[in-house]
Amino acid sequence: MSKFIALIPAAGSGSRMGHELPKQYLSLNNQPMIYHAINTLWQNRLITRILVILAPGDLEWFKYDWSQFSGKLVALNHGGTTRAESVLNGLIAAKQKDLVQSNDWILVHDAARPCLTSIQLENLITELAGDEVGGLLAVPVADTLKRIDASHRIIQTESRENLWQAQTPQMFRYDLLTQALHNAANANITDDASAVEALGLHPRLVLSDAYNFKVTYPQDLALAELILQERNNL
Ligand code: C5P
Repeated sequence: MSKFIALIPAAGSGSRMGHELPKQYLSLNNQPMIYHAINTLWQNRLITRILVILAPGDLEWFKYDWSQFSGKLVALNHGGTTRAESVLNGLIAAKQKDLVQSNDWILVHDAARPCLTSIQLENLITELAGDEVGGLLAVPVADTLKRIDASHRIIQTESRENLWQAQTPQMFRYDLLTQALHNAANANITDDASAVEALGLHPRLVLSDAYNFKVTYPQDLALAELILQERNNL
C-alpha cells in the first residue's frame, strides 16, 4: 500500500522578507511560521510522516518544542542551494533512512504557505490518489498580465485564459519525483511540477484558493496573521 508522506523544504533564507531570521521561523500567531504548515499536515489522518528539510547547520529549528508532533515529524539537515535541490536531497536521505518507499505519494509543501486548510489538503489527496501522474493545488489567474521591457514599459498584454498560479502541496510518487528532480538538476525550476513536466508528463491542477499564498514580502506576514486569527476565532 502506498503511504502519503509530506515533505517541507525549509532550507531557504527568505531574503525577500528583509530579515536575518529565515522566513520559516518568523513569528506568526506566536509560533514560527513553519509550525502552521506542519500542524495542518499533521492533522490529516492519511499523512503518516512529515519530513522537514533544514539547511545544514540550522540551529534555529532546535530552539522550538516540536514534541506535540512526535511520531510523524522527522527533521533532516540535507537542504541544498535551491528549493529543488533541498527537495531532492531530502527525498534521497529519507529513502536511505528507510522513511519512504518507491511507490509512496510525496506531498511537497512550502514552509512559507501557513494558510493551507485541511479541506484543501483533503481535496488534493482525494482527487489525485488514483492519478497516473499526480498534481498540485492551484488557482486561476485573476489579474491582467503584462509583459514588460527593462524600463518597465509594457510590450504586450498576455491572455490569462487557461493560466493558473501553482501552489503547494504538489503531490507525486517518490520514484517519479526523484527521477524528475534528478533530470532537472541544472534547470532553473521553481516548483516540483516543472520537473515532472520536463519528462513530458502533464500533472493535474486541483482548485485551491488565494488564501494558500506564499509568504514572500513583509506585508504578506500581516495578511497571513489576520487569516489565521480569523480562523481561530470561528
Ligand atoms: O524562496 P521561496 O519562497 O521560493 O521558498 C519556497 C520554499 O522552499 C520555502 O519553504 C523555503 O524554505 C524552501 N527552500 C529550500 N531550500 C532553498 C531555497 C528555498 O528548502 N535553497
